[in-house]
Amino acid sequence: MTALVLLSGLPASGKTTFAAALAPRLRARLLESDRVRRELFPRERRYTRDEHARVFAAVRERAAAALAEGRHVVVDATNLRARDRRGFVQLARRSGARLVAVRLTAPDAVLRQRLSAPRAGVSEADVAVYERMRGREEPFAYPCIHVDSRWPLDPSLALAEALCREGA
Ligand SMILES: Nc1ncnc2c1ncn2[C@@H]1O[C@H](COP(=O)(O)OP(=O)(O)OP(=O)(O)O)[C@@H](O)[C@H]1O
Ligand SMILES: [Mg+2]
Repeated sequence: MTALVLLSGLPASGKTTFAAALAPRLRARLLESDRVRRELFPRERRYTRDEHARVFAAVRERAAAALAEGRHVVVDATNLRARDRRGFVQLARRSGARLVAVRLTAPDAVLRQRLSAPRAGVSEADVAVYERMRGREEPFAYPCIHVDSRWPLDPSLALAEALCREGA
């Protein structure tokens, strides 16, 4: 059985760090929305509704293709609202893949500190983006691994990996 790992969390909560550690363990297809956005819009990114729709259509399409090939998939995006997650939940169901949801968190002060420091990677999120997204988080309607990214990640990675492999 394949698995779709759906990450969720505010900017700097540690999604990309977690995804980069998990994907090789599962030999999963890693789909980072920020990277796909850069690929589709290399010159300038506007973060409009239309741009968002195109990025997520591409992410879902690639996820569907990987699952159809029998590969696990890790989706790295903020996915804060239920409606952001719905397409992936439906895709997992349609593909007969196990949905493994992971919510990354850290306290407000830690997130602000991380966002103020120079950042590696392709995310363009800064404190202003964080301010806009705060408070948009909606609870998950299904089981979810909660990860506080101040702790070592290994036990959470092992749990996510085990859930993905269960029933394989
Ligand atoms: N488990 C962790 N332990 C220590 N530092 C971490 C951890 N996870 C992330 N960080 C640090 O926090 C910063 C942001 O992490 P990361 O890029 O993984 O967040 P993100 O959730 O992907 O953010 P964005 O939504 O902007 O893409 C990085 O500088 C990283 O070094
Ligand atoms: Mg990221």
